[in-house]
Amino acid sequence: MAALTIKSAFKLNSGYELPLLGFGLYQTPQAEAERAVNQAFAAGYRHIDSAAAYKNEAAAGAAIRKSSIPRSEIFFTSKVPPAGISYAGAAAQVDRTLQESGLDYIDLMLLHAPYGGSANRKGAWKALVEAVEAGKVRSIGVSNYGVHHLEELLGHIKELEEERGGAGKGGVLSVGQWEIHPWLARSDIVDWSAKHNVAVEAYSPLVRGERWGEKALAGLAKKYGVTEAQVLVRWSLQKGHIPLPKSVTASRIEANADVYGFALTDAEVAELETSEYKPVCWDPTVSELKD
Ligand SMILES: NC(=O)c1ccc[n+]([C@@H]2O[C@H](COP(=O)([O-])OP(=O)(O)OC[C@H]3O[C@@H](n4cnc5c(N)ncnc54)[C@H](OP(=O)(O)O)[C@@H]3O)[C@@H](O)[C@H]2O)c1
Repeated sequence: MAALTIKSAFKLNSGYELPLLGFGLYQTPQAEAERAVNQAFAAGYRHIDSAAAYKNEAAAGAAIRKSSIPRSEIFFTSKVPPAGISYAGAAAQVDRTLQESGLDYIDLMLLHAPYGGSANRKGAWKALVEAVEAGKVRSIGVSNYGVHHLEELLGHIKELEEERGGAGKGGVLSVGQWEIHPWLARSDIVDWSAKHNVAVEAYSPLVRGERWGEKALAGLAKKYGVTEAQVLVRWSLQKGHIPLPKSVTASRIEANADVYGFALTDAEVAELETSEYKPVCWDPTVSELKD
């Protein structure tokens, strides 16, 4: 693998490039989000992860629009909220996100969770496919889908191809987003994604701060003279994921992106990973297809 840099990107199935380091905006208040995104840009992030549910698309959009960085170099993600997983809900959300953010297009729109039942998931996906065809959205994907939901989606894509006139008409799955860190490695989902060239975005990559001081983590931070947060971001990148660390704190925003001056060994990446399954967030991946 070529050496990782802050400019490293994943070539998506859609053909677009996704910067490997993302900046998370969950729980960042609208009033702070523009400043935080500006600080993220200054620190080198070019990939911003928002969602309708975070209620900060307007501030994120304002930072993007006012930035001197060309729009083409910035990657903006939003998500259709869990309660909006239906054809009408997803179609309306794309338009609302464009309006809120003031952007001409959304780089990536995700379905936030696999809720609403099979017919509504298919409908929501179809709305995203149409949004791509209309030039409103560039790439599409899902979040919090278990392997059973992902397999169902492949079926939906095939059905839509048949219903809508052939190859490509069912849409292209480019990205999945899941809680992933050494205490929740999700190898089943990661392996499935690798097989389909689906980019794996890792949320809560810092485990929301709940694992500071754990022996293996603290040991690596000491060895490399970095913070434990930097070790976790590095672990995620070296696993081939796209970590989305969140912070509203200027010094942390900067430090979390300053992870290219050291590298964990392959053995250290493996040692840090545990066999635990300990989400710190919600876990819709385990929901049933009927949910
Ligand atoms: N798709 C989904 O369902 C979903 C769910 C959750 C998250 N996400 C996305 O993933 C992003 C990240 O996940 P997350 O926000 O859950 O958790 P996270 O990034 O693992 O942790 C964020 C927490 O860690 C703190 N922190 C950040 N950098 C730190 C550092 N260097 N040292 C010590 N503490 C630090 C932050 O505090 P301060 O902000 O106060 O600095 C914040 O409390 C979200 O913002 C969102 O974009 C998606």
